[in-house]
Amino acid sequence: MNAYQLILKKRNGDQLNKREITYLLDQYISGRMPDYQMSAFLMAVFFQGMKEKETADFTLAMAHSGEMIDLSTIPGIKVDKHSTGGVGDKTTLVLAPLVAAAGIPVAKMSGRGLGHTGGTVDKLSSLEGFKIYLSREEFIQRVRKNNLCITGQTENLVPADKKLYALRDVTATVDSIPLIASSIISKKYASGADALLLDVKAGGGAFIKTLPEARELAECMVKIGRQLGLKTAAFITDMNQPLGRAVGNALEVKESILTLRGEGPADLTELCLKLGASMLVLGEKMDSLEQAEETLKEVLYSGRALNKFVSFVKDQGGTAREIEDVELLPLTKLIEEVKTETRGFIQEIDALKVGLAAMALGAGREKKEDEIDLAAGVEVFKKIGDTVEKGELLFSLHSSSGEKISTALQLLKEAVVISPEKPSTPPLIHEFIPSSERNRGCL
Ligand code: URA
Repeated sequence: MNAYQLILKKRNGDQLNKREITYLLDQYISGRMPDYQMSAFLMAVFFQGMKEKETADFTLAMAHSGEMIDLSTIPGIKVDKHSTGGVGDKTTLVLAPLVAAAGIPVAKMSGRGLGHTGGTVDKLSSLEGFKIYLSREEFIQRVRKNNLCITGQTENLVPADKKLYALRDVTATVDSIPLIASSIISKKYASGADALLLDVKAGGGAFIKTLPEARELAECMVKIGRQLGLKTAAFITDMNQPLGRAVGNALEVKESILTLRGEGPADLTELCLKLGASMLVLGEKMDSLEQAEETLKEVLYSGRALNKFVSFVKDQGGTAREIEDVELLPLTKLIEEVKTETRGFIQEIDALKVGLAAMALGAGREKKEDEIDLAAGVEVFKKIGDTVEKGELLFSLHSSSGEKISTALQLLKEAVVISPEKPSTPPLIHEFIPSSERNRGCL
């Protein structure tokens, strides 16, 4: 067996077996297979695809390229959650304490943001004293004690993905369903969870733009999860407009705290309750989504989820003072308001443009090495379908630089369409794909 034969086999549309896949990845990770051969293989996968078993084998080989976290000493079914990324997507900050307070152990490894979507690690860094990088022992000990810990991904978690992703990024092979699915599931599998809830975002502000593509990716990941013994379910949720009101790290933490107080935006609150209900069912705490959602409402509105967030932040070195007084979160020197120039209905709030505006204000990074401004970002005060009068507040821009505000202003002006006719409003949740075919459509 050699790399050339395996590239040829894939190029011709044949399926590789487990031994061949393991060989190929081993050769590449060890440096014996050059980038140009792996690039050719990735392009062959892009055009020929991979079968379910083949993708599962690829995922497993990727996962085993580095450290495999063992969470078996933590009692209970550990349920992880992954979002494919969206503008204003701060659900982890609400969901994690919510389901942990309802009895599900949450041991989560999160990443930093790149591009126009944010990362949980950056958001949590807005909290004074919060320690994001923990040793494996510290991580496990905190989940055992508090049912909840969120740590930054270690360098050695699926190193094959880091190397392959960098190559995919420069060879136009990122948007291949089996490659995306194996990249995401390998990291979750290596992180040691027993079950996984996926939030696959579809729309202009997401990495996947259309519903059929999002469905294909979600179904692929649910099937691979099943093959690997990782009980996986997926929601396909809308990302044509930002989620909630806040876009930017400290602004999103503030909104999450308000949501945990029961004072959050309706869309974010509803999504967290739906995702959380599914996590309770995956974790076998509840049998039905409806019952689980009722339980979570009680956990949220009684303040138990907020208390869990306080103990989680303190356990990871934070003062948690911001949870009592959100004005203590990082603030920018400048805040600029944008108001509507006509009356009518909000037809469109382009999530991608809002995400790019937040990035231009300093909230996101273009390259991995870029510094971010934790206080920077955009607040969005309207939703698609809202009626507006002339002169109503639409956005507020938070930045430390007037120049950055000018760039972002241009993007935000282009992001909004106001029309005289009432538009149809996009659903928050498009579809649910349960972990077993038997439950299909039980949302
Ligand atoms: N997110 C990932 O983690 N991997 C991909 O390949 C694409 C999105």
